[in-house]
Amino acid sequence: MQLEEKSKQKIMDTYELEKEFIAILDFGSQYSQLIARRIREMNVFSIILPFSTSLDEIQKLNPMGIILSGGPSSVYSENAPHPDPEIFNLDIPILGICYGMQLMMIHHQGTVAKCKKSEFGHSEMMIQDKSLIFDNIESSTIVWMSHGDQVTELPPNFQVISRTDNAEIAAVKHKTQKHYALQFHPEVSHTKNGNQMINNFVSLVCECKQNWSMKDFATSMKEKIKKQVGNEKVICGLSGGVDSCVAAKIIHDAVGDKLTCIFVNNGLLRKGEAEKVISSFRDNFKFKLHYANHEEEFLVALTGVIDPEEKRKIIGEKFIRVFEKATREVGDAKFLAQGTLYPDVIESISPTGGPSATIKSHHNVGGLPSDLSFELVEPLKDLFKDEVRHLGRELGLSEDILMRQPFPGPGLAIRIIGEVTTERLEVLRNADVVVIEEVKKAGIYRDIWQSFAVLLPVKSVGVMGDERTYEYTIAIRAVNSFDGMTADWFRFDPDLLGMISNRIINEVQGVNRVVYDISSKPPSTIEWE
Ligand code: XMP
Repeated sequence: MQLEEKSKQKIMDTYELEKEFIAILDFGSQYSQLIARRIREMNVFSIILPFSTSLDEIQKLNPMGIILSGGPSSVYSENAPHPDPEIFNLDIPILGICYGMQLMMIHHQGTVAKCKKSEFGHSEMMIQDKSLIFDNIESSTIVWMSHGDQVTELPPNFQVISRTDNAEIAAVKHKTQKHYALQFHPEVSHTKNGNQMINNFVSLVCECKQNWSMKDFATSMKEKIKKQVGNEKVICGLSGGVDSCVAAKIIHDAVGDKLTCIFVNNGLLRKGEAEKVISSFRDNFKFKLHYANHEEEFLVALTGVIDPEEKRKIIGEKFIRVFEKATREVGDAKFLAQGTLYPDVIESISPTGGPSATIKSHHNVGGLPSDLSFELVEPLKDLFKDEVRHLGRELGLSEDILMRQPFPGPGLAIRIIGEVTTERLEVLRNADVVVIEEVKKAGIYRDIWQSFAVLLPVKSVGVMGDERTYEYTIAIRAVNSFDGMTADWFRFDPDLLGMISNRIINEVQGVNRVVYDISSKPPSTIEWE
């Protein structure tokens, strides 16, 4: 409940920021975020609201249009999510998509029933009425269907505007109100003219100006941060990752030295990483940076630990303690900055908790507990990941920081199988740097989700010159992924793999064998531990 209230507050805060936007009511569709993305790509701001948002709240927010998302439920089932019925009486354009269409239809006294056969996939759609939503679209086009129910009886005052072979009623419009509904999903790329349809709704039906820009966003966000922070102090944990760097930069641009960043060195970072963060932020951007170097402490705590979960637990707990100590050293700050992104906010408001809510739960190692006694400053909470990069560019951060591949909180500890020792860390760092260098040199660093080295504590026999060697094995891991939840192994050019292998064996002391990991996720994971 508390979480819900917090999420709602975050949504309401957005209102102060953007005056013209589209609201998407989320009924649990896996595509709700995609709808929001499509609209933002048209330079119109959009937010996702819980389906249960009250009429009063919606009126206060005053969106230019409302989209009812799809969802997995059946409209007549007992626990089916419904919006506040009064929204249909507002003088605001509404677009219902799939389940959202069915909700609109039963609200206006139409009938929905189970399809004889669920429809899933491409369908050819014939447009029968050139209404605004189909402006600039050929009369026959391909759409993507995914539904088990369909509209069987049209409500009074509605008119069918398109059909497919399977669905007599593929799209409808109200004869006088600006209410439209589509049985298919215009937001997925399989719907050939889907973007144009969303664009038509946003620009022609809702009459949005399409002038939302990242530059304006940055300017109004800085104003908002200034107002929130006043004369108080803010602290921000800087990890070197994209989100914390962009969050810190915009806060620094807004409040300067009222911000102190804390950078924890847990001894599990990649080669030269601590130096890079310090030189970018302290030397270049002139941030107040508190460098909490606890390398030894972490390594001592990890001595003799082999179990991956045990490693994660030790690192996670230690990080929190070390961070708390650093905050005390920095002095009495009222605010803590966090790089929370929009998908995290949405996950907490979705009726299903978001598709990835449970899978990700073990991934917050290196994060902070929610009960720290600070008020939060979350400048990225309205943005998707690529929008954060865009904002970072606007703020003058380098591509090197913005296009970084993800790096896990427990760092190299989960890339050394078995015990973490100083010697093994040194070997892994030196091998890892070769992988990154070669991948960058080949110009494919940004095409790969993650590419790194893993140290296997397996010694095998080799020969170097006339000498027999007995040394460690390095596994190279590189994957393509959309969000880290699933992944496929990256198809390297064999010559490049050969080059990486040669360099590691020749340059990294302690390694005489390199192997390539060709497993996908699932069933394997991206990290080895
Ligand atoms: P797995 O190994 O589960 O990883 O396939 C999926 C993605 O999550 C990252 N990862 C973590 N990130 N703290 C993090 O901040 C963690 O404890 C953690 N564990 C895994 C991993 O690098 C990959 O991108």
